Amino acid sequence: MHSRQGRRGLRELDRRLDQKDVMDRMQIQVSWSGEGAGGLASVLPRGFATAVCVGSPSPEPLFPGEAALVSAAVDRRRIEFARGRSCARHAMHLLGAPAAPILATPQRAPIWPAGLVGSISHASESCCAAIGWSDDWAAVGVDVEVLQPIDSDVERNILSPAERSALERLDRRIPWACVVFSIKEAMYKLWNPLMTCWLDFRDAVVRLDPDARRFELSVVGQPAPSVPPALRRIEGRFDIVGLHVVSAVALPRGHRSPT
Ligand SMILES: CC(C)(COP(=O)(O)OP(=O)(O)OC[C@H]1O[C@@H](n2cnc3c(N)ncnc32)[C@H](O)[C@@H]1OP(=O)(O)O)[C@@H](O)C(=O)NCCC(=O)NCCS
Repeated sequence: MHSRQGRRGLRELDRRLDQKDVMDRMQIQVSWSGEGAGGLASVLPRGFATAVCVGSPSPEPLFPGEAALVSAAVDRRRIEFARGRSCARHAMHLLGAPAAPILATPQRAPIWPAGLVGSISHASESCCAAIGWSDDWAAVGVDVEVLQPIDSDVERNILSPAERSALERLDRRIPWACVVFSIKEAMYKLWNPLMTCWLDFRDAVVRLDPDARRFELSVVGQPAPSVPPALRRIEGRFDIVGLHVVSAVALPRGHRSPT
């Protein structure tokens, strides 16, 4: 746990991370930040520990099993992977869980140490992780993206015509398609470890509440032989922090929708 001075330092760090000019320039060489990390905590229900890393701090060493997962990867990917693991371990520490290897499934889903659920995201020069206790949460998905317009061909793959026309009615200064993209990626990170199958962008329909920064996601069609009701319709939150969008969706153990 952090000292009072440490907590003040982290709060000051988070305040600075939330400032647009700082995020724009990405100059700040930050090490691992805890509570309220860069807006991630604000889109998650209570009960998750979060950590974010912005800039290029050196990642902490990997466990041998983790290093083996990226032994054939290019340097950039190895560093990205290690930063994500460092972020996750920092969040585990904040939650009170011991450091342990985070291996991965062949679909790249992290295999969390017993008793934990979590999710990792990377964007440009930043990455973040959220960790909770598996007694409380069945799964969580987080995603951070640089907020920018999406190519119209890609947009057609991500959004249904109905979703596109709904977004056209919103504030045109914000590239909402990118927000929905981030939400759907967060949903996939929750879905895949639970269902162990693919979920296509067009299998999900997102309805945004832009003022409340909330969303409702419905799974349509039959992407799996049987889709539990709690995954058919799930609610989550997003936020726009500087030049990034951050999204999260969490499924409580017992499958009530989070509030
Ligand atoms: C898996 C995917 C969501 C990851 O997104 P990404 O753009 O590579 O970027 P991010 O940096 O945000 O996320 C990467 C992290 O997600 C996690 N992740 C990757 N695959 C995952 C999976 N199958 N399940 C859960 N988490 C996964 C990993 O922690 C990964 O980082 P790591 O490999 O360093 O551990 C994306 O590559 C993908 O395949 N998307 C298509 C499926 C989809 O989104 N469908 C929409 C359904 S509504």
